[in-house]
Amino acid sequence: MVRAAKARHSIALAPVPTKGLPVSDSERSTEEPRDPSGIDAVRWTEGKLELLDQRRLPGEVRRLLHEDATATARSIREMVVRGAPAIGVAAAYGAVLSARQHWKASGDGWREGFLADLEQLKAARPTAVNLSWAVDRMSRVDVQPGSDPEPAMLAEARRIHAEDIAMNLAMAEKGSELIEESCTVLTHCNAGALATGGLGTALGVIRQAWREGRIKRVWADETRPWLQGARLTAWELAREGVPVTVIADSAAAQLFRSDPPAWVIVGADRIAANGDVANKIGTYALAVLARQHGVRFMVVAPSSTVDMDTPTGAEIPIEERAGEEIWAAAGGAVEGAEAANPAFDVTPAELIDAIVTEKGVARPPSRESLAALITA
Ligand code: MRU
Repeated sequence: MVRAAKARHSIALAPVPTKGLPVSDSERSTEEPRDPSGIDAVRWTEGKLELLDQRRLPGEVRRLLHEDATATARSIREMVVRGAPAIGVAAAYGAVLSARQHWKASGDGWREGFLADLEQLKAARPTAVNLSWAVDRMSRVDVQPGSDPEPAMLAEARRIHAEDIAMNLAMAEKGSELIEESCTVLTHCNAGALATGGLGTALGVIRQAWREGRIKRVWADETRPWLQGARLTAWELAREGVPVTVIADSAAAQLFRSDPPAWVIVGADRIAANGDVANKIGTYALAVLARQHGVRFMVVAPSSTVDMDTPTGAEIPIEERAGEEIWAAAGGAVEGAEAANPAFDVTPAELIDAIVTEKGVARPPSRESLAALITA
């Protein structure tokens, strides 16, 4: 068994095979929610949170074990786990670890440390609203005075996880129905099993439509600077035999002119009440290109990504990540030059043809069509 040399906080390498997925069923508890793809980006194993380390994919498949909320927040910040729904599920399990730790240390006074940990989890990444949505749900778990909070907390985290898996399946059905026979589609970033608890949002739709014979090829933007498309989407689709071709982000315009896909299909980190969508940097540029070339634009996201308290995209906080990520993609920093690294952008609702949620499709998206879905 391999262990991390010196784990800061409580992160260790999980004792699971480093080659090949999915893991065998015998390793899993029957209560554990199951990602139908078998990838299990996030899972609860023997009382610990296990995250598939996405910084290492596709070269290395390794899992890290987490035993406290501080380690969980760090892994969210550093993109061991990423994608809006997946970080929400990971944070929910991080809250279970926190409740356990503070109950052991302080008994009935556990809540003070727990609430501080929840703030730390929420602050790990600002744009994806699923993170605060999940953490807020964990803060509302009812625990009787004098009783161990862990069982109730774990039950709620498992519910959040299981609901995400179910929402992915529902969105896959609804989104696939919008796609015609035998076409190509383009996706950006990774909105798949790696980014959720289940099959994925955009990639859930793509998987389903491919199985139904509606999609013949997927174009995947490499998604600079972190390469979620080239590393993660390509890996996820190829391991299932879905035909996928990776292109440089800047190649999309030429593709749209020469061999236009029927749809661009992406996920979302936050959808404002008016239908504006924050997603991985580069999504807005794709939406402008799509409109110019008559390519339709689909956003797939669970209702946990819709933030009715944020009126428009202008109010969505955009995460600025370290310039080192740009320099890493460039092969090293240039002395005297600076790097700026906004991780997300906002696509205005008028450039989006359909927002697919588990509750139905807002087509076209607007304040009214979204409200009708979300508050139904
Ligand atoms: O920075 P990341 O990799 O967390 O960004 C992820 C995205 O932008 C995804 O498209 C979004 O979270 C939807 S995932 C189902």
